[in-house]
Amino acid sequence: MSKSVLFVCLGNICRSPTAEAVFLSHVQQLGEAGNVVVDSAGTIGFHQGKPADPRMRKIALECGYDLQSRSRKFAEADLDNFDLIIAMDRENLQDIKAMAPAGSDLGAVKLLSDFLDNQWPTDVPDPYYGGDEGFAYVVDMIVTAVPKIYAELMSRQ
Ligand code: 4NP
Repeated sequence: MSKSVLFVCLGNICRSPTAEAVFLSHVQQLGEAGNVVVDSAGTIGFHQGKPADPRMRKIALECGYDLQSRSRKFAEADLDNFDLIIAMDRENLQDIKAMAPAGSDLGAVKLLSDFLDNQWPTDVPDPYYGGDEGFAYVVDMIVTAVPKIYAELMSRQ
């Protein structure tokens, strides 16, 4: 049976499309792409339909990741449709939880930094209003977390 993971940020044009591409690259290297569904979404629909931010795409491509996704808004049904949902920051996590019907099991909803040691910040910093170094940091943080997120996904029933 295939497993599925959804990465969520605010706009779905910087952090979560990068996480989607890095995770996809990881499963492709393992020869597991046919067994894993990888997607991303944003908690706001403002950029819906747009490709990822050109600054993010450029830096991700320099690191070997080609961002192909288009922005879509996170939907309540995603809570049922994915085995694991990874929020980039605590605000995203709170927004996801706020969309869940009362009494829902939220055990599949995690923060990306749950998979990192505490040398890393709790939130993947939003790079949107900053310079190139912010986009490069997003790639570093995600690349470090992805193998651990993959292991968690595979260990889930
Ligand atoms: P993301 O970055 O959540 O990593 O996609 C942002 C994208 C757009 C905006 C903020 C953050 N915005 O305010 O439009």
